[in-house]
Amino acid sequence: MATGAQWVLTATGRSPTNIAVIKYWGKRDDALILPVNDSISVTLDPDHLSATTTVAASPAFPSDRMWLNGKEIALSGGRFQSCLREIRKRARDVEDEKRGIKIKKEDWEKLHVHIASYNNFPTAAGLASSAAGFACLVFTLGKLMNVNEDYGELSSIARQGSGSACRSTYGGFVKWCMGKNDDGSDSMAVQLVDESHWDDLVIIIAVVSSKQKETSSTSGMRDTVETSPLLQYRAQTVVPGRILKMEEAIKNRDFESFARLTCVDSNQFHAVCLDTSPPIFYMNDTSHRIISLVEKWNHSEGTPHVAYTFDAGPNAVLIARNRKTDTLLLQRLLYCFPPQENDLDSYMVGDKSILSGAGVQSIADIEALPPPPEMKTPNQKFKGDVSYFICSRPGAGPKVLTEESHTLIDSATGLAKG
Ligand code: ADE
Repeated sequence: MATGAQWVLTATGRSPTNIAVIKYWGKRDDALILPVNDSISVTLDPDHLSATTTVAASPAFPSDRMWLNGKEIALSGGRFQSCLREIRKRARDVEDEKRGIKIKKEDWEKLHVHIASYNNFPTAAGLASSAAGFACLVFTLGKLMNVNEDYGELSSIARQGSGSACRSTYGGFVKWCMGKNDDGSDSMAVQLVDESHWDDLVIIIAVVSSKQKETSSTSGMRDTVETSPLLQYRAQTVVPGRILKMEEAIKNRDFESFARLTCVDSNQFHAVCLDTSPPIFYMNDTSHRIISLVEKWNHSEGTPHVAYTFDAGPNAVLIARNRKTDTLLLQRLLYCFPPQENDLDSYMVGDKSILSGAGVQSIADIEALPPPPEMKTPNQKFKGDVSYFICSRPGAGPKVLTEESHTLIDSATGLAKG
């Protein structure tokens, strides 16, 4: 880049991903991304699942550009453009006295940006990477351009990038209020409780191998809205009551109600997918086996120990009530789904302390695990059906990263670092 003496100004941020426990499925406005019902999610620990994004502005940049995980991608999509436009509209004066940089708010309309983003988990694994990505983009652009809007307003902008991104604007448990206004101005996220409120929950994600090409959420939702009579019933009659009950369960740390609501809502979302013409199948045999494992265990205990929820893909998200239950859960999961390769380190990622709690230090320990007592056919094992597990917990919302080592754009060249 022939910058000469021209400056490059950067900001870097990190945003977590989130998992809905009352699902968002179906839009009442496709362009503005306005949902047909409220939804509730838990934000995951950003150490395990997050996007880090650096945004840079310079008078030397001839156009807006973006790199995702080191590869340049087209910024032509309407969703990126909506987020950029909405943040530029709200930009304010910025001054860096030390470097002699002065940007007036009207200058931001002419300044182009370079964006480099990196996900600390596989982008194509169906783990809502776009939720973390768009929340991070909006948050970090807001910092660069000195935007003064509150988090609710920022969540409404992130929503226009990817609906569920609005919920990644906060940590802890978050509600996306569908809103009533035609312009979407009241469709935004609110924090129900922060990440410290219910911090003994443990979240284990089973990344399920899938060779099948999935239906994208965008086209799946559109087909459901157009063809499923069950969706209307769900959105208008079922979800409003569930939202109130879920808010109450979260407030009271009532795991039993939380788990029951989470599981039935995931199952209804997949029922709505089946009710679509043509039907959409997101879960596979492994997903069904995991549901069955949890249901049998919960039934044998008499009260739920674990909740499961599945998004638009076969991966299972399992939420255990505390550190004692997660050990029992992990032992069951590893018994049924031992790793294909002899590499425990890459089979269990994230918070590895859970492994030692479960007394599992090696592949031999997995092979020696006893069958779960509630299992009727204890020799049934499904080696290789789970690619790997991610252990996490409820986590914090977006934050600014100031260390130079986190910056993903080289301030000398203005390009993504190699
Ligand atoms: N889609 C998936 N990951 C993303 C990211 N980090 N930023 C923007 N869009 C994304």
